[in-house]
Amino acid sequence: LDNGLATTPPMGFNDWNAFGCNVSEQLIKDTADYFVSSGLKAAGYQYVNIDDCWMTHSRDAEGRLVPDPAKFPDGIKGTADYVHSLGLKLGIYEDAGTSTCAGYPGSLGHETTDAQSFADWGVDYLKYDNCNNNSDGTQADYVRRYTAMRDALKATGRPIVYSLCEWGVNQPWNWAGDVGNLWRTTGDISDNWSSLKSIIDANLPLASAAGPGHWNDPDMLEVGNGGMTDTEYRTHFSLWSMMNAPLLIGTDLRKASAATMDILLNKEVIALDQDSLGKQATVLSSSAAGDVIVKQLADGDRAVAFYNPSDQPQHLSTTAKAVGLPTSHTGYQARDLWQHTTSQTAGTLAATVPAHGTTLLRVSKAPNAASAPALLDTGITGL
Ligand code: GLA
Repeated sequence: LDNGLATTPPMGFNDWNAFGCNVSEQLIKDTADYFVSSGLKAAGYQYVNIDDCWMTHSRDAEGRLVPDPAKFPDGIKGTADYVHSLGLKLGIYEDAGTSTCAGYPGSLGHETTDAQSFADWGVDYLKYDNCNNNSDGTQADYVRRYTAMRDALKATGRPIVYSLCEWGVNQPWNWAGDVGNLWRTTGDISDNWSSLKSIIDANLPLASAAGPGHWNDPDMLEVGNGGMTDTEYRTHFSLWSMMNAPLLIGTDLRKASAATMDILLNKEVIALDQDSLGKQATVLSSSAAGDVIVKQLADGDRAVAFYNPSDQPQHLSTTAKAVGLPTSHTGYQARDLWQHTTSQTAGTLAATVPAHGTTLLRVSKAPNAASAPALLDTGITGL
């Protein structure tokens, strides 16, 4: 969606994966505080997002949504003011149906009123779900319901990131490029390896739909929630960054381990996600041993992921030439973004990757290597 927003994938937090319906003003404020004190804000995390269950079960006399006064004593406006005072942004959740997935009032037929409430409260991001939608299931109906809220948000004049959550049901990658800033491509993630693996498989082939302002969304992060190993969580964060996914933390940050924070704060991995070229990675080769996945970066570097979804360690390899680096370089540098080590290579890129693991490299021309003129390729040496 060309609204000037999400020129790189949104980064932030959403309460759903860790808290379900137990959202509150206090949780949102604590999370915002923690963004500042932990360095998450400095690393680029910006949106603190409220998911389902923030409102009361009925609209007010004017037909407006009402924040639950027990959960949000200062309302969404007071919560947004606090979040903004820290230099962060606030997100909210609604649904393109008669009620949300948890049974609170939906926005279908109330788009103008609800968009205006969000704008009045200072909301910066809307996740728009798809439960109870009264739909005939056609793409035309999906486009109509999601476009109605896009237009209502635009009419408020407030910049609001627009996140479509129709779970990939109607192939939004085919039609949502000018409807939303991002769109879910799958059903809900859960905190286990088989869920993660199936989402990666579903989202990897959709690279051509992604770009600045319009991203595939394989769902929020489970990093830190305890159902996977740290190796699997590093795969999760590596692949989300390779796929230009939103990086929305979904864990209780107040209880996050050092290993969890190391993953979420890995700036070299985040830089792949936030690269200004905005090109989602593609699979270069795939075998029983795993996938070699490549992402082109704005400065000409390539990010290379050796992704091993199998249940035993695997050796994976490729070459600088195969990942698209100029063959005129006389040497390359491979930075391992999890080991934080740098090595030199004449062109071979290889790693032994643990089961369910990912080795993530950023490959560039070696600093001391010549960018040899094309003549050298013809065998004339000694220049
Ligand atoms: C759907 C969405 C989830 C979450 C819940 C809230 O399942 O896909 O991400 O927002 O609704 O009820």
